[in-house]
Amino acid sequence: MCGIVAAVTQRNIINFLLESIQRLEYRGYDSSGLALINKNNDFIRVRSIGKVKELIKKTKNKKLSGKIGLAHTRWATHGKVSEENTHPHISSHIAIVHNGIIENSLKLRLFLQKKGYIFQSDTDTEVIVHLLHWEQKKTGKSLVEVIHNSVIKLHGNYSMVAMDSNHSSKLIAVCSGSPLIIGLGVGENFIASDQIALLNITKRFIYLKEGDIAIIKAEKTTIFNKNYSIVRRKIIESDVKYECVKKGKYKHYMEKEIYEQPDSIRNTLKNRLKNNTTIFFPELGLKEINIFLNVEHIQIVACGTSYHAAMVAKHWFESLANIPCDVEVASEFSSRKLAVRKKSFFITLSQSGETADTLTALRISKKLGYLGNLTICNMKGSSLVQESDIYLLTQAGIEIGVASTKSFTTQLTVLLMLVAKIVSIKQKKNNVEKKIAKILTILPYRIEEILKKNKEIKNIAKKLYNTKNILFLGRGDQYPIAMEGALKLKEISYIHAEAYPSGELKHGPLALIDENIPIIITAPKNLLLEKTKKNIQEICTRGGLIYIFSDAEINLEKNITLLKVPYVEEIIAPIFYIIPLQLLAYYIALSKGTNIDQPRNLAKSVTVE
Ligand code: F6R
Repeated sequence: MCGIVAAVTQRNIINFLLESIQRLEYRGYDSSGLALINKNNDFIRVRSIGKVKELIKKTKNKKLSGKIGLAHTRWATHGKVSEENTHPHISSHIAIVHNGIIENSLKLRLFLQKKGYIFQSDTDTEVIVHLLHWEQKKTGKSLVEVIHNSVIKLHGNYSMVAMDSNHSSKLIAVCSGSPLIIGLGVGENFIASDQIALLNITKRFIYLKEGDIAIIKAEKTTIFNKNYSIVRRKIIESDVKYECVKKGKYKHYMEKEIYEQPDSIRNTLKNRLKNNTTIFFPELGLKEINIFLNVEHIQIVACGTSYHAAMVAKHWFESLANIPCDVEVASEFSSRKLAVRKKSFFITLSQSGETADTLTALRISKKLGYLGNLTICNMKGSSLVQESDIYLLTQAGIEIGVASTKSFTTQLTVLLMLVAKIVSIKQKKNNVEKKIAKILTILPYRIEEILKKNKEIKNIAKKLYNTKNILFLGRGDQYPIAMEGALKLKEISYIHAEAYPSGELKHGPLALIDENIPIIITAPKNLLLEKTKKNIQEICTRGGLIYIFSDAEINLEKNITLLKVPYVEEIIAPIFYIIPLQLLAYYIALSKGTNIDQPRNLAKSVTVE
């Protein structure tokens, strides 16, 4: 979604702004722009639709210079993709960039139009900047006071950074439901939507909290909380290496991230397994562990890929820990009147920790009487981590490809450890924990084995990339894997893909089957295999083209292609079987030539509801 970068320094910052905003391209956007205050205290603004390289072209030969400035990548919400709608927006001596949505912008726009403001764009951002200008004209107060007084008038989740050409030594930032991170330099300071934009400049970050307003000067930063009292926020030393933002030998970030999975899982297991038999969560104290003693129900809420991880976890919570578990997509959880089960514990899953739907669900859950809440997240310092009672970090490393891969398998790794730990806590015996700890140590090797099947998977992809529709089937804990496989494929190849539980086929979707529709099935050798074989038969007799990923022997009829995969322990099969589906989606998209790392219309971090 929209990306913000701003800096106040002692040097010309044009190159910094362009480089940093390019680093936020992975979030998804459709236009970009920047504004500087020059030595005459005038704004210089450049905007362009399309990629940041178009913006860079426009800045060439312009000799732009300024020590303070803002830049932005826009993902259109209010108003079409056009230069007029691209940020920054300016009202006289105030310029702003903004991320998120102002829900009451129409009402405010009408009010401001009555006051004589003429709008150049359709955006809610221009409403904010005119409102600030109006309030300042009316009250004569400083920009920070005006912002403090105006935020109550702005409804919605957003963040923004503003500058005033009459006072060119400071930026004012507001964090209200959408993330902003201050990067601390030496004699210069920065602010951005995420740390990736600033990693080559600093490792020291302050994550602003909900409702914070910050004044950022080159020499110091001052932060006010929502009550307008000055507060100190913790400085976090980031352990993210800038190198991980590079593609290395890979063509795409998604490809790199698929192949990184054995190591991301190793990092996620590190310091959490003792003697390969005991699971530890150093993040959880006795108090937190004891909550699980009383848990009788688990509610998991997440979106997209994280939701699919939650669906797998439901199988584990119920089959291993005998704890009923419900799973819901966050936007639906927040869209109805909820009845909460007794002694229920609330879990959110998120790669980014900034997904607006998931954050809203967490905030709602806090009013509903859950025993407590936990987030499993990949981003230290993110909003979900800050707002949750307890958190467990996946150690996937920065994930840049819009389509999630390593965050999914590391979420599942943490979830399986958590379930095993809860079994030990509740049942007061550790045989399940021991068994799972042992299997988890093998998991990275199992994934290395399946990754070696890449050439065979590429050959299947070559046969499928011209297809218009593909069905994915799975049974039991493989159904969420089918859903995740279908999601990967549609996201990056734009091929219509749907997932069904294998047994559900005969209740309708069978009508779709003919020789033109490929069906992808993951079918591990387990107790459910015989039933899946029957489903395969049903498809065969109707001429469907079947591609099976399995470690079992399957009768090969003429329209069946079997990709024999190595053996894997049953409990970790979901983590293992998603790998061939990720590779399949990747190679199909590669054959089609789509924009794999930044698929159209999508954003990495979805910070609007
Ligand atoms: C799919 C994908 C999205 C995200 C979803 C939730 O590849 O990336 O579906 O999984 O937007 O994002 P997080 O996990 O950051 O909350």
